[in-house]
Amino acid sequence: MQRTLAILKPDCVRKNLIGKVIKRFEAEGFKIVAMKLVKLNSKTAGEFYAVHKERPFFYDLVSFMTSGPCVPIVLEKENAIEDYRKVIGATDPAEADKGTVRKMYADSKEQNICHGSDAPETAAFEIGYFFSGKELVENME
Ligand code: CMP
Repeated sequence: MQRTLAILKPDCVRKNLIGKVIKRFEAEGFKIVAMKLVKLNSKTAGEFYAVHKERPFFYDLVSFMTSGPCVPIVLEKENAIEDYRKVIGATDPAEADKGTVRKMYADSKEQNICHGSDAPETAAFEIGYFFSGKELVENME
């Protein structure tokens, strides 16, 4: 069993899509292990996305991620990291496959509805960034 960190970004919250997107994750077989509503600030968003700090889009990314509340969620499933990335689609909705969450709901590469961990090491860091061990709840039948 593998875990990944999803974040429903501020555009997802603003568009009242939290329920629809979580419903899709559940339908795809993911179990929710932890979830909360948080408002990032420039320090916390900058720490979370530290890997991108030299990238030209870093400032805009932090500014968008602090523009409203977001919903970090720990999801669990066999092959969760890769399967989740298939469900959400490519970073840029213009390049995302039909039926993916980003193709259906995202406006742009910047405002792309959700985040997902890209590897087991990043998932471990990202889950630990938002949740303590005690907040990770067993949710398997
Ligand atoms: P996310 O999966 O949250 O990880 C980093 C984010 O940076 C990415 O989704 C995009 O929303 C955002 N981003 C903005 N501009 C770019 C870009 N040019 N290339 C890649 N990611 C970008």
